[in-house]
Amino acid sequence: MSEKKESFTYYLKLLYPFIKKDIGLLLFGLFAMLITSGLRLLHPLILAQIIDHSIPDRNMAQMFQYGGYFVIVVLLSGLLSYLQILLLSRLGIKIITKFKGNVFSHLLKLPVSWFNKQPVGELIARVESDSERVKVLFSDLSITIIGNVLFFIGGFIVLFILQWQITIYILPAIIICAVGYWFLFKYLNGFFRLIRERYAVISAKITDYVQGIQMLQALNQEKKALKDVEQASLSKKKVEVHTQMIEYGSQSVFSFMVNVVFIIIVILVSAPKIIAGTLTVGILIVFIQYIYQLVWPLMQISENVMQIQRSFASLKRILELTKLPTEDELYTGTLHPVFEQEIRFENVWFGYKEDEWVLKDVSLTIPKGKKIALVGPSGSGKTTTVSLLCGFYPVQKGRILIDGIPLSEINFREWRRKIGLILQDVYLFPGSILENVRVYNDQIEEAKVQEAISIVQLNEFIKKLPEGINSELAERGQNISQGEKQLISFARALAFESEIIIMDEATASIDPQTEAKIQHSMQNLLAGKTALVVAHRLTSVLDADEILYFNEGRITARGKHSELLNNSPEYRKLVELQMLQVQDE
Ligand SMILES: Nc1ncnc2c1ncn2[C@@H]1O[C@H](COP(=O)(O)OP(=O)(O)OP(=O)(O)O)[C@@H](O)[C@H]1O
Ligand SMILES: [Mg+2]
Repeated sequence: MSEKKESFTYYLKLLYPFIKKDIGLLLFGLFAMLITSGLRLLHPLILAQIIDHSIPDRNMAQMFQYGGYFVIVVLLSGLLSYLQILLLSRLGIKIITKFKGNVFSHLLKLPVSWFNKQPVGELIARVESDSERVKVLFSDLSITIIGNVLFFIGGFIVLFILQWQITIYILPAIIICAVGYWFLFKYLNGFFRLIRERYAVISAKITDYVQGIQMLQALNQEKKALKDVEQASLSKKKVEVHTQMIEYGSQSVFSFMVNVVFIIIVILVSAPKIIAGTLTVGILIVFIQYIYQLVWPLMQISENVMQIQRSFASLKRILELTKLPTEDELYTGTLHPVFEQEIRFENVWFGYKEDEWVLKDVSLTIPKGKKIALVGPSGSGKTTTVSLLCGFYPVQKGRILIDGIPLSEINFREWRRKIGLILQDVYLFPGSILENVRVYNDQIEEAKVQEAISIVQLNEFIKKLPEGINSELAERGQNISQGEKQLISFARALAFESEIIIMDEATASIDPQTEAKIQHSMQNLLAGKTALVVAHRLTSVLDADEILYFNEGRITARGKHSELLNNSPEYRKLVELQMLQVQDE
């Protein structure tokens, strides 16, 4: 990712759509900040009045009057800054929620091929942490930085008006301090980045190890994992300790500068004037108070500016995601799909990478109402064929025709609505069995889900669960068996009443009892429907209208089971292998 510097207005333009609606609130927040900064400047000035006039004049009434003003100003500025923080941070949360929603809804529209190239865990972590950094832009960060700048400018103007002769002496000292602080932070920033990177490494390691905990325990490698994480933690700790030493050490130096050096300068310069009677003690107090109040904001500004740079970098990274072309923009057509006759693959070539053909010149026909089976060795392109038919990837050569219309001209979303897809790895969402069958589609009634469940013979299994159909499934369905997962995915396809069933059978072996159950459910599922079945089990191909034998991306044999058994040695071999297995069982 390029780290090119973009102008401030560029980012404002990007952000504008998100803040458009709340621009009034934002401006009000800024206005309140202006007032607060002004009020903060007033405190020392009121004190100076009391010290220089009320006390020497022994004017008690005036003293109480100024005292009253002081209290009002303090209360008012406190109230305003509370309001301001409340307002802006609420706005920040609101804007960032909208922002994240936008990013997520855009991600959902990206083509499957994009996710193939993306480590998902890292992507999610990035969106999360980047959003948090962007949020800071709208809340504390902008409040402090704008408030600090305003206060700083105002403070200097007041000091200049009061006593420019003293002000010019402290100005260089403050500038030296600020520049020093800026460089220090720039230097520290490198360490901060290193700490963040090391932290990311540690959390990635922990995630991986926790996910594979079963394997680790089975192979007795927990200690190795622990050692690995400890090593990573140690290298982060070293950098952290070093950084903190520099950070806190230099902060003590700066704090000494402010508390001692600056105050001494002011007193040295002003003492002769006070003795000569050209300066009052009240003004001296204003100076001392202002210095305390001005220097820290100035230091903070360098820190804040770097934070803002980081926030902008995050903003850019996230917005780059939202600019990726969606599936619709890339290759979805507009035609309404009509499927009355047949699906045809015409000399289809496809590769996930340029010039690495996974499918080579594949032609096949799926007539409406028929069942076509794909068989063949692992990696021969069966799942790929299924993905192409669902429109997950565009074909590179040849065409896929639906009743003679190229799939590329058809609206994918409408096309997929006709398809019930049962994938090789069944994916279960966190939630109840009910929600997993209807995949959050409320239009599918519970009764229909129940019916689907009884058709796939999951009734008994569900009856045993404490909350029946509403029982929660663990993450990725870890609390149920492979066979049960398969059956739930059948129920899914049934509940959606899809007219075309595309099924990629699980490769995992299943016990003969479940196998029989699945077989029976499959017949129910496919009855009267058009089906494309990637078959790993012999029983699934026996009744197919046509079997296509895939080998290295080509269809090398086709026909009914009995025909292939006679004509194709490779098919016969496959069948014989399975027969052996059946006999074993
Ligand atoms: N998302 C992907 N990105 C890149 N290459 C892929 C991807 N998916 C599959 N491939 C490659 O394409 C080839 C065909 O894979 P495919 O999944 O279609 O095989 P398959 O016939 O379904 O095998 P199996 O019987 O093991 O499920 C393989 O060489 C595989 O490595
Ligand atoms: Mg496959």
